[in-house]
Amino acid sequence: MQSIEHPFKALVLGSSGTIGAAFVQALQNSPGCSQVVGVSRASHAGFALEDEKGLEHVAAQEKGKGPFSVIVDATGALTIDGQGPEKRLAALNASQLARAFEVNAIGRALILKHFIDLLPRQGRCLFAVLSARVGSLSDNKLGGWYGYRASKAAGNMFLQTAAIESHRTRPEAVFAALQPGTVPSKLSAPFQSGHATVAADDSVAGLLKAIDKLEARAQAWFIDYQGSTIDW
Ligand SMILES: NC(=O)c1ccc[n+]([C@@H]2O[C@H](COP(=O)([O-])OP(=O)(O)OC[C@H]3O[C@@H](n4cnc5c(N)ncnc54)[C@H](OP(=O)(O)O)[C@@H]3O)[C@@H](O)[C@H]2O)c1
Repeated sequence: MQSIEHPFKALVLGSSGTIGAAFVQALQNSPGCSQVVGVSRASHAGFALEDEKGLEHVAAQEKGKGPFSVIVDATGALTIDGQGPEKRLAALNASQLARAFEVNAIGRALILKHFIDLLPRQGRCLFAVLSARVGSLSDNKLGGWYGYRASKAAGNMFLQTAAIESHRTRPEAVFAALQPGTVPSKLSAPFQSGHATVAADDSVAGLLKAIDKLEARAQAWFIDYQGSTIDW
């Protein structure tokens, strides 16, 4: 990470996931990165997107190891409680939709709320979250995947709003929603057929290169692993 003052520390939330683990590895190999802390349900009791007190506790526990100039939230889910994405309106049910929002939107908001203060107060820093292109309203040409699409779009709105607020106190902070491409993982495995895929390491290398170049502004960015901007 050329744009971040060296040495720097990094925090990866959802480090047990395929993309989260690839971020941990890439940041550990990144020149100037002195420490990478990975956080997941497996490593930290209480780290659950449905548990605000747990998230608050983990954030407080890790704050002493910071500040972290790079924070990546690589959490998220597509199949929840055994229920995959809905293809048709007729398949929608309120509890499944509520769970998608609880994990991908409210969980994201609570992570922003409790982990934003682990960024340094001064100097350039990055808060990146794993979004998905299907969360783009303007890019939605195929339809389907109602709950995942809508919860990812809502997660993007939480990020955008936090970026605006944070710019007042951390003018050099960069906020980015990331589209990793179709990466083979537990999340994507049931839905990959026919899609070109990109390996997690290649996706993360592209994402880190792209976010390193982003300017700090009073708005979040929405970019893919090739560095292209995505319309919200
Ligand atoms: N793979 C793709 O093709 C693709 C494409 C577009 C966007 N994305 C996004 O990229 C992110 C990472 O996906 P991935 O492919 O790496 O999936 P993954 O391997 O399934 O990883 C998902 C991560 O989220 C964590 N997580 C899920 N639900 C949680 C909860 N309720 N509380 C706490 N942690 C929870 C998982 O923890 P556990 O290990 O404890 O389950 C894991 O660390 C997601 O936001 C996904 O939407 C992925």
